[in-house]
Amino acid sequence: MKNMSKNILLLPWYMIQIFRQAKSFKTNPIIGNQTLNRLGLHAFRVVVSHIIMKFKMFSLAFSIPKGLRKSYYEKGYIILDKVLDKDIFDNIVNETYTENSEIRECIQGNTLTQRIHLSKNNLTDTKGIQNFLAQKNIVALFKFTSGKNHRPLSHIQVIKNNYITGKHDPQKTLHRDTFHPTMKYWFFLQDVGEDIAPFTYVEGSNRLTWKRLKWEYKKKYLYP
Ligand SMILES: [Fe+2]
Repeated sequence: MKNMSKNILLLPWYMIQIFRQAKSFKTNPIIGNQTLNRLGLHAFRVVVSHIIMKFKMFSLAFSIPKGLRKSYYEKGYIILDKVLDKDIFDNIVNETYTENSEIRECIQGNTLTQRIHLSKNNLTDTKGIQNFLAQKNIVALFKFTSGKNHRPLSHIQVIKNNYITGKHDPQKTLHRDTFHPTMKYWFFLQDVGEDIAPFTYVEGSNRLTWKRLKWEYKKKYLYP
């Protein structure tokens, strides 16, 4: 009874969340409703989010070189090699290793991830990083690839594999983070060999194929 009145009170909010990026099937009884998902609610949200993203990317694509755009549309990623002169790169490496802000940590399975959020405050003592993240071509790429008219959150990140004896790190099993298009970027300060868990991406998995849509549909109505 208590739960029901809470759900009725929160109904407007649950409804609004359908049109946002909420993804929890547990906390929103509409998004997680088996009958609605059997009728296609989740699949509908997947399709609409991809259509909206197409429009957003189109409107932010004007200054992006054709080859990069094509790579992102078809493969789902863009690789930029040697984007900085050596002295600027060395300065960024130096700033990264000497940055002294609050570190946030999380452990998933046997992996430790440490992050320093590059907020406005600590960007003031990391001028090289700040300049790099404000470079016109980089900002344009951020906006185009994320479909947002602002820069993404940035962090200095360290990943320590096999840090503790624990379960398998779930991030090392291929997965999709969420149902709607999303963007992440990495700027590597050192080469990452195949032996130290390099980032892995399934080429073309950005595209909403019929097979993917069927997978989304089945996954969500069978396992809400
Ligand atoms: Fe992930």
